Amino acid sequence: MPDTETQNAIWQALAKNQQTHQHRSIVSLFDDARLASFTAESDDLHLDFSKTNIDSDALELLIKLAESCHIAEKRDAMFAGDKINITENRAVLHTALRAAKDSVLTLDDEDIIAPYQKTFTAMQEFATNIHNGTIISANQQKFTDCINIGIGGSDLGPLMATQALTPYHTGLKCHFLSNIDGAAITDLLVGLNPHTTLIIIASKTFTTTETMVNAKTAIAWLKAHITQGVEQHLVAISSAPDKTAEFNISPERVFGFGDWVGGRYSLWGPIGLPIMLAVGTQNFQDFLAGGASMDRHFCNADMKQNLPILLALTGIFHRNICNYATRAILPYDQRLARLPAYLQQLDMESNGKSVDIDGKQVIRASGPIIWGEAGTNGQHAFYQLLHQGTDIIPTEFLIAANGHEPALKHHHDLLKANCLAQSEALMIGRNSEQAMEIAGKLGYQGEAQKMQAAHRVFTGNRPSITLAYPKLTPFVLGQIIALYEHRVFVEGVMWHINSFDQWGVELGKELANTLLPMLHDADPIGKDKSTINLLRKLKN
Ligand code: F6P
Repeated sequence: MPDTETQNAIWQALAKNQQTHQHRSIVSLFDDARLASFTAESDDLHLDFSKTNIDSDALELLIKLAESCHIAEKRDAMFAGDKINITENRAVLHTALRAAKDSVLTLDDEDIIAPYQKTFTAMQEFATNIHNGTIISANQQKFTDCINIGIGGSDLGPLMATQALTPYHTGLKCHFLSNIDGAAITDLLVGLNPHTTLIIIASKTFTTTETMVNAKTAIAWLKAHITQGVEQHLVAISSAPDKTAEFNISPERVFGFGDWVGGRYSLWGPIGLPIMLAVGTQNFQDFLAGGASMDRHFCNADMKQNLPILLALTGIFHRNICNYATRAILPYDQRLARLPAYLQQLDMESNGKSVDIDGKQVIRASGPIIWGEAGTNGQHAFYQLLHQGTDIIPTEFLIAANGHEPALKHHHDLLKANCLAQSEALMIGRNSEQAMEIAGKLGYQGEAQKMQAAHRVFTGNRPSITLAYPKLTPFVLGQIIALYEHRVFVEGVMWHINSFDQWGVELGKELANTLLPMLHDADPIGKDKSTINLLRKLKN
């Protein structure tokens, strides 16, 4: 869809707004009305994007732009099961995994909710039986550990959520194995007892090399210790259940899901089994309820109060109007330490595209680079660049009002103070007069004082967004994840790209298959000189 005249006019007006106001101080925008228009809430989440250089004119233009991109219609089409992933001819219905049990949703004339609910019930029974010891290991012991073997969407989401919900853990320890590097499985197995370890092989396609090879090595480890009943230690999760037969896993241990769930959106369903095993069925349901609550908010809230839309609009403003190439995710929540990695896949695999939905070259920049680290660790690593570097990095802070450790409230107060201090410092900075005063107090005078002061100036005016919530509960986590999913969706619609395929990961996989034999005897036919040279160096 080429830009309509309306859209062009809005883009131009936004560019003009930026040109006029790019050097304006963000602080000057804080009139009495700003907080009302530049914060929004949904259940437990409070979004504050007032510390950005978006003024009310720009916000209005951004909302008009979103309207002209038919966000509401496209959102409804996604929720209704239209095949919006056109390169794979698939519906995009991860939202169905968290929909009410009694909802009805047909795809290709068949209801998908009731059959999925059957799988979900089976998953819950399985998790309950593992917890209460009804399902036990080959030598009749209760399982103490579980390894989820998967990669990408079959790893990042479950791992991030399991870690995020540590205070809700039931006692069964969940470990995650993804990398093909033999070091990963070696180091993991060292600490585990094969007699009490359950292995989940999680792969949507059940063809992913890393997962298949790691699974075979893990099964060989089990077999080396267990003479009979290894299959009692195995579970498979896939949308290609027929492919799981190769591993001899009994059908009641295979949890399937439809191709209408994208890998990076799959933690809400069977791929979330390790989360359910870690936190129990009720907490998992609360997590789903958080996601469903965000779905309702996304579908019903006015655009001006709609968290996913507002978050997306700040993203569009920073990426396309300000030309900021990256976005830092900074959870002041140690248990969300893997959120940046999870969002890297969610966002970059979805919106890292140069071709639009019609197969044409995109006409403006699409997905930014996502990166980040848990606060306060990042402060002592890369925040120097955030505050004084030559690039401006829009930052997104996440912070809970309360931790799960009441006895350590003083830690949490320091965490909150640091989080607020960073967004304040990024916005307000420190001017040269203040820096001169500091240098003067340190005893510097004349040219030395000026030089010392120059190093202590913070330009400020660096935008940030803060997402605040009462506590990182399963419900809140569900809200946060669904918020980011829908933000990615809205941005993808506004860039007119397909956010639900990932052809960019294929070429490397194909080339790895051609290179593997060349590491042994095969001639490096068709390879470039650098690759041939490196092959030679790396052979044995
Ligand atoms: O490499 C990309 C990818 O296809 C992701 O989209 C996906 O989440 C991951 O690989 C793992 O795929 P699977 O679950 O099929 O093993």
